[in-house]
Amino acid sequence: MSRLGATQISARKDAAFPVVTAYDTPFARCAEAAGIDVLLCGDSLGQVVLGYSSTLPVELVDMVRHAAAVIRGTERAHVIVDLPFGTYAASDDLAVTSASELIKRSGASSVKLEGGAAAAPRIRAIVDAEIPVCAHIGVLPQTAALGSGFRRKREREQLLRDAHAIAEAGAFAVVLEMVDEEIAAAITAQIAIPTIGIGSGSHCDGQVLVLHDVLGLYPESPPFAKQYAQLGDLATDALRAYALDVRSRTFPPVATAAGPRSGNGYRT
Ligand code: KIV
Repeated sequence: MSRLGATQISARKDAAFPVVTAYDTPFARCAEAAGIDVLLCGDSLGQVVLGYSSTLPVELVDMVRHAAAVIRGTERAHVIVDLPFGTYAASDDLAVTSASELIKRSGASSVKLEGGAAAAPRIRAIVDAEIPVCAHIGVLPQTAALGSGFRRKREREQLLRDAHAIAEAGAFAVVLEMVDEEIAAAITAQIAIPTIGIGSGSHCDGQVLVLHDVLGLYPESPPFAKQYAQLGDLATDALRAYALDVRSRTFPPVATAAGPRSGNGYRT
């Protein structure tokens, strides 16, 4: 089965398509089984999986390893992988080298990088190297603490300029993070590529959420995220029951004449 290409995602203008982040094989499998066919292996990995307080410490090798795990858990999904901080901003050469390594070693379908008009030359260089690029404007988590800021973006002219610049540079889609809803609607109406909103209102072509926010696995979810389950609580309850069973010698069960179950599970 072949994977969805960037051209197919690019054609999803006005399609109201769901995107979710994925960082490992089991949850990537769940997302694909749920019919979500665009997955983002984001550098939010840093906070929600690796326990850092920001995306800054995430390395290219982390993204390679986790994107490859997402690829192993899926067959048809288009897997976008983030270029982490420090791997593309300095020059076109660095951007192309990092993007090539990420795609070659992980098998991901496309890369994502943060930045508007200033990042357009990097997007053009990577696209010229035949690697599809998803852009990301609005709040830019990689540089937010370094000055670009965490507050909702309302600079209409700048955001429209950014959106047009990245579309002209060849991006196949763009994430709009915490962009004022009316400006996100205007961007969506004006550019030909799909917008994928996060905290940017209902007018974007697609929506993306962080998996751990959707599943209730991260204690500091942003207010715009919707929790569809409380897996963190479920996991704690299950582990409490297991611990209780071991302490009360209820698990493992007393051996019977039939002996243990055959098979060796994953320890082959
Ligand atoms: O890293 C990430 O998960 C992202 C999303 C917040 C869009 O970039």
